[in-house]
Amino acid sequence: MRIIKAKDYDDMSRKAAAVISSQVTLKPDSVLGLATGSTVEGLYKELVKLFNQGTLDFSQVRSVNLDEYVGLPPDHDQSYNYFMKTNLFSKINIDEANTNLPNGLARDSDLECKRYDKIIDGFGQMDLQLLGLGNNGHIGFNEPSDTFMTNTHCVELTDETIESNARFFSDKSQVPKKALTMGIKGITQAKIVLLCVSGTHKAEALKNVLAGPVTPQIQGSILQMHPNLVVVADKDALSKLQTS
Ligand code: F6R
Repeated sequence: MRIIKAKDYDDMSRKAAAVISSQVTLKPDSVLGLATGSTVEGLYKELVKLFNQGTLDFSQVRSVNLDEYVGLPPDHDQSYNYFMKTNLFSKINIDEANTNLPNGLARDSDLECKRYDKIIDGFGQMDLQLLGLGNNGHIGFNEPSDTFMTNTHCVELTDETIESNARFFSDKSQVPKKALTMGIKGITQAKIVLLCVSGTHKAEALKNVLAGPVTPQIQGSILQMHPNLVVVADKDALSKLQTS
């Protein structure tokens, strides 16, 4: 595991963008696992900047996103489809046909999960999986549980996650109760896992993920077993960990 220390959110965003930028430069047809949320907004801005400067070319990149809310159409401004379009895809030269997200409107979520796993399996091994971290240690929407779910599945969001994501909706009752999420197998089969964490509110979760026991109650703790985990975290997020 490598921990790259950042001063603050902006520094984390620049450092994480540098990791993705190196990946795409070294392998222009990289398969990137992508995430949504506040943590990655700054990093996507940095990637857009690098693209506009002519430093990065996404024309051959393929992408697979982690998750999507059940029940939100792709054009809903809180859907993860919409997030990806507005924050990244429409601002770079990625071919949208090469981007993948679960369909939150699928009538049969089991079938949709199988379809999604086929896409993930079809890529063989992702080159890099980008992750944010939930306050409860979730990765993707793999919520605290008695088991690690390997495949893409439909998950009931915990009250804590609904509460935390309510900031994006007009009120808590508008937050979808379910989501489709890539499972732990899909996430951890990536050659590199890039975990980005910022803020004191994530410090406890990050400590549990990196230094606690590996347990499905803290789903991110499974990342301790990954051979190539890169953590880019700011001072505040690292404040409960002893790092040299
Ligand atoms: C989003 C995702 C989630 C978020 C996590 C942190 O695609 O899979 O695991 O990364 O909930 O969210 P933010 O960054 O909004 O704090």
